[in-house]
Amino acid sequence: MTTRIIGTGSCLPETVVTNDDLAKIMDTSDEWIRTRTGIRERRLVKEETTASLCEKAALRALENAGMTGEEIELIIVGTLTGDYVTPSTACQVQAGIGASRAAAFDVNAACSGFLFALHMAHAYLQAGIYQNALILGAETLSKIMDWSDRSTCVLFGDGAGAAILKRDVTGLVAFDLGCDGSRGQALSCKNRLNNNPLVSNPISLDFVHMAGQEVYKFAVSTVPGSIGKVLEQAGITPDDVSWFVLHQANVRILQAVAKRLKVSEEKFPVNLDHCGNISAASVPILLDEMNRNGKLKKGERIVLSGFGGGLSWGSALLEW
Ligand code: COA
Repeated sequence: MTTRIIGTGSCLPETVVTNDDLAKIMDTSDEWIRTRTGIRERRLVKEETTASLCEKAALRALENAGMTGEEIELIIVGTLTGDYVTPSTACQVQAGIGASRAAAFDVNAACSGFLFALHMAHAYLQAGIYQNALILGAETLSKIMDWSDRSTCVLFGDGAGAAILKRDVTGLVAFDLGCDGSRGQALSCKNRLNNNPLVSNPISLDFVHMAGQEVYKFAVSTVPGSIGKVLEQAGITPDDVSWFVLHQANVRILQAVAKRLKVSEEKFPVNLDHCGNISAASVPILLDEMNRNGKLKKGERIVLSGFGGGLSWGSALLEW
């Protein structure tokens, strides 16, 4: 037995922010952003929250799977931008979709969050502890951006993606997860500082800092190796894979990975042109778009791969 994805869903905030919109409020241009990253526009929250995006994505995934919230036994949300320190986003989703039987918690593995949630849920299902799970990747990154730092804030967007998992005879085939904490400062955002009476630091809020070129080099050197490991575990080559559904950070990263694996870029679907980088949400939103557009055919081999903050990475091979 293994674990199969039986339904997908996603939700983007209503407000579209184009590169030209950003150029009106900071020193940037559509040309710079598009040519360096492939991003044309992104969605940013106004009234929406991480939990509200998750709830809509989860309900769409449940409908896609033909299930109800009451049937769900486990909920894991990959996020680094939950609305509360506690309750977790997963607990908010549990209440929002009426999944009263489900255990629910969040996992923070930044842009690899969906892959880590998938692996964790798979382990629970394979251990026979639960029969099904709802996993999500969701972010409202716009609240942790430094909107005076044009080198980071133009890259990211907000949104949520979901998948329903079930024990089945086909589905997930192989996994590779990894981290290099020694390089964590390349992409960082401090949590609230300690304000206890023993500490004299003033309270200050931090925002995302990124050494863009370092993260770029990390991605293009680590991701092909991670994908190579899952293919090796399955005894197949990149040519046997129909789709490489990668974290959407930069179109140039996708092109570089395709080149290293010696596969056509056409096997690397892209949605960062209209979504930007949504960290843990990128992979499940793209998977849902492909599912709803009828691009995924039963029996096709698909590689999922996430990478980013931590630094962390995770890849999975599955049969649709
Ligand atoms: N608009 C216009 N100019 C900008 C800009 C913006 N939004 N952001 C930076 N610049 C300028 C810089 O100030 C710099 O100007 P200078 O040469 O006069 O100093 C110039 O553009 C080049 O900046 P640099 O940071 O060297 O650009 P780059 O070629 O490395 O591209 C990234 C920047 C962020 C697009 C690229 O490094 C990248 O994609 N990295 C990976 C990041 C990523 O994907 N992170 C998430 C992983 S989960």
